[in-house]
Amino acid sequence: MMAEFLIEMRQISKQFPGVRALRDVDFSIKKGEIVCLLGENGAGKSTLMKILTGVYKQDCGSIYYEGEEIHLTGPRDAYERGINIIFQEFNLCSNLSAMENLFLGNENRTKEGFFSFTQTRKKAKELFEKLHIDIEPDIKVSQLNVARQQMVEIAKALAYDTKVLIMDEPTSALTSKEITTLFSIMRTLKERGVAIIFISHKLEEVLEVTDRIVVLRDGENCGNVITSDATKNQLVSLMVGREIHNFFTKRTQAPSDEILLEVKGICGNKIKKASFNIKKGEIVGFAGLVGSGRSALARLIIGAEKKSEGTILMDGKELIIRHPKDAIAAGIAYLPEDRKNMGLVLPMTVRENTTMCIHRKLQRLFGLISNKDEYDITDHYIDELKIKVFSREQIVETLSGGNQQKIVIAKALAVTPRLLILCEPTRGIDVGAKAEVHNIIATLADQDISIIVVSSELQEIFNLADRILVMHEGAITADIPIGEANQEVVMKAAIGAV
Ligand SMILES: Nc1ncnc2c1ncn2[C@@H]1O[C@H](COP(=O)(O)OP(=O)(O)OP(=O)(O)O)[C@@H](O)[C@H]1O
Ligand SMILES: [Mg+2]
Repeated sequence: MMAEFLIEMRQISKQFPGVRALRDVDFSIKKGEIVCLLGENGAGKSTLMKILTGVYKQDCGSIYYEGEEIHLTGPRDAYERGINIIFQEFNLCSNLSAMENLFLGNENRTKEGFFSFTQTRKKAKELFEKLHIDIEPDIKVSQLNVARQQMVEIAKALAYDTKVLIMDEPTSALTSKEITTLFSIMRTLKERGVAIIFISHKLEEVLEVTDRIVVLRDGENCGNVITSDATKNQLVSLMVGREIHNFFTKRTQAPSDEILLEVKGICGNKIKKASFNIKKGEIVGFAGLVGSGRSALARLIIGAEKKSEGTILMDGKELIIRHPKDAIAAGIAYLPEDRKNMGLVLPMTVRENTTMCIHRKLQRLFGLISNKDEYDITDHYIDELKIKVFSREQIVETLSGGNQQKIVIAKALAVTPRLLILCEPTRGIDVGAKAEVHNIIATLADQDISIIVVSSELQEIFNLADRILVMHEGAITADIPIGEANQEVVMKAAIGAV
């Protein structure tokens, strides 16, 4: 008899030092089913999926494949059974080309054992075309932005004969157009009988694309609902164990009229004569398509990239910034979009990462830094951002994805900046925590800190910003007060139709 489920995980438990990540969790999926695994940051989703892909071994519990118990010996074993994962933290080799990454470990060899670049390039081209991905097969992965790296990840997982495809937050760096493409790919795979496990914090997406939703809370099962019967509020209360009504509190104070920063005609590699200003206590949202130059502009301001022309004034005086250190000294903090490569030092502790940029500020007599100051600051942010750690000395690499993102935010806040530049601040953060982060941003602005938010989620910008600047191909194409902004106006400017 055919088993009802393609995969069945029964009573899975997993303990890490200091944390029980999973306790007696059941999870199953049928052929051609799309199931969402939902839960707050740190609920255990990625851990469960790492067990299913042989990365971790469960402490107890069993896994059945087409009704037969399997004992995965490692990732290779899972992969050979057709269980494939797109990891939340990218897994690409950044110094190899896109096409080399696609077929890594599964290269096209000729009968004589030679690696054929021509063959590989041809196959890569075909795959990208099929997925409507516009990427040169020969480009080095390190030259792609996060969204494009994610597309390579997706293509890589689809390069094989996949029976079970796990997508751990595949859409967090994609724009709505790319998401639509991804969803149509998912539906095609579903028709072919592939079982898809989809992890996302964006509930609209979950409701749109999945058949069933399995909810985890604190490492335990706490819900299993058919998507067509589910509502957003119901999912939120299953996830957090209570109802959240007030997602976002508005600003209590209007920004002042005083200008903090004035950017005059700066040019860079990807930026064409950008000029704008930001007032004290103002939140300016930067909208635009991926690649429109929003983060490139941010990098010019903080000195991570060299500007070829133009000036930046703070309080009316010219600011000379040659290096990100100068920006920090001037009171400008920056949260990069790419937390893994630029935001965090993964093998270091929560405390070391949080206080990394403020050592100079923390110095006391004879240049010494007191442990207690570091502890206090770290504990303050762990508490305020509700970061799930078992100790401030926990290695950042062992935190869940969303909690890593919160550390990047803590690190930027610890600078107590005058201007805070946030690129995709809530990527990978769960709905409850996202509301908290938004409230923190609003509170900072109420304290006269100026804030730039770069986000590909338009709703996030609408929630937060006093004013929206839109970029298109390296230029600022619109400057819209929030009262006059709507989706249509912003999108028009984003595609350069103004
Ligand atoms: N290698 C590890 N060592 C120690 N603790 C770990 C390790 N991996 C995960 N954990 C802990 O297990 C818990 C569950 O983490 P997991 O990554 O599964 O969460 P998640 O549901 O995927 O969250 P997110 O939505 O933030 O990605 C967290 O408390 C995390 O810190
Ligand atoms: Mg995760």
